[in-house]
Amino acid sequence: MENSRASLMFKAAAVAAIGLTATFVMLVQDPDTLFGGGYPELWRRTGLAGAPTRAAACIFAGVFLLAMGWLYRLLFAPLELLRGVDEVGYIAEDGRSRAQAANEVRRRRKTGELPPVYPNGWYRVLDSHMLERGDVKSVTVLGQQVAVFRGQDGKAYVVDAYCPHLGANLAVGGRVVGGCIECPFHGWQFRGTDGKCVRIPYADKVPEFAKVRCWPSCEINGQVLVWFHCDGLEPSWRVPEQSEITRGEWVYRGRTEHFINAHIEEIPENAADIAHLAHLHTPGIVSGVDLRYTNSKTWEFIRHDWKVEWKPEPEPDKHCSQMLVKHALTVFGRHWPLLDLDVVARQVGPGVVFLLFEHSFLGRGVIMHCVTPVEPLLQCVSHTIFYQSTIPPLVPKFILRAECIQFERDVMIWNNKTYISKPMLVKEDSAIQKHRRWFSQFYSENSPRLRYQHDTLDF
Ligand code: FES
Ligand SMILES: [Fe+2]
Repeated sequence: MENSRASLMFKAAAVAAIGLTATFVMLVQDPDTLFGGGYPELWRRTGLAGAPTRAAACIFAGVFLLAMGWLYRLLFAPLELLRGVDEVGYIAEDGRSRAQAANEVRRRRKTGELPPVYPNGWYRVLDSHMLERGDVKSVTVLGQQVAVFRGQDGKAYVVDAYCPHLGANLAVGGRVVGGCIECPFHGWQFRGTDGKCVRIPYADKVPEFAKVRCWPSCEINGQVLVWFHCDGLEPSWRVPEQSEITRGEWVYRGRTEHFINAHIEEIPENAADIAHLAHLHTPGIVSGVDLRYTNSKTWEFIRHDWKVEWKPEPEPDKHCSQMLVKHALTVFGRHWPLLDLDVVARQVGPGVVFLLFEHSFLGRGVIMHCVTPVEPLLQCVSHTIFYQSTIPPLVPKFILRAECIQFERDVMIWNNKTYISKPMLVKEDSAIQKHRRWFSQFYSENSPRLRYQHDTLDF
């Protein structure tokens, strides 16, 4: 909602700006009509009546408008950084394109003893604001095609995309009718609540067996989530709602999206890998994301210090774990206590993390970090930030940008690494083993495994 308000304000500002420019250009070009004959005295004196000056004035107005638009976006519009599949974390050298480099890395990778690829749990499929009433979207989750649609009742539903009649994709040309989705091929209508076919336009009777698979789904904190269990079991836990978002006190301020070439478990394992923080994430964010250059001497004077603890939660929340982070910034070796930041990263199941920020004067908010497997070794990761509406949007946008820089350093590691089932760990790495034990609760006997190394497509 916040997003649509921002875009409405943006449109209003754009219309006002265009109106002003049009008036300005008319004044410059046709003063006779507007001033009842002759140029205004001031224009004569300043020489604005000449053609070159008029052109210059138009250019100036254009540049001014662009600058205002840019300033508006910087200060008020949400930050949206959507990275392509091969955009981050690959090194394209020797004249190769990024896509070639990414495909080579993916082909080369050893997929030895991988854990199952689709853990049981809740996963994000879409941001709510991407799905208006009556919209249908085609999404790939956990190696399957699903159709996500919002009924006229305002509820979001997720069903298998392929129609059980003759296999058309419901999300490609399908239409929402009430709380149902209508197939584009022969017009069968399936109910969002249970997948049952309620109408076949050319048949007298709808048979009992006419059904499409319906995925348990929910909508919380501006995200549409689906439940996956390899044996088709119903959800055994829920993703909690962040009440400040529901009450409208924390509002949407932006999101990022990345595709990562790794096994899903490697991403949350980062939280229990305490040693990597002091190595990978210590250089200041100004040194960028390319690990070949992050340790450059130029930016050595800015450093991030991290104190981290990782622990699983006890029953009844054993599907949750927590990473407690204390962040400090040093500039030329001097600690700036005003920039200290405490973060609690609460992982809820295999696919959702709430990063809760609390700062003495920069306010409070949350980044919802969601990992959804697209295919066995390709994860879609989104970060969506909600922040106190009373804090200027620039603050959460800066936090999201800083988080994105640190995250893209991890992406470069993940994209190029392999999964090691029996890692060579020292005592100080013990949380990693604990994390693996904790994460194994999301696998069950029938959890899908990667059968062939080439189960993946080229980018
Ligand atoms: S394929 Fe869907 S109605 Fe025929
Ligand atoms: Fe990391």
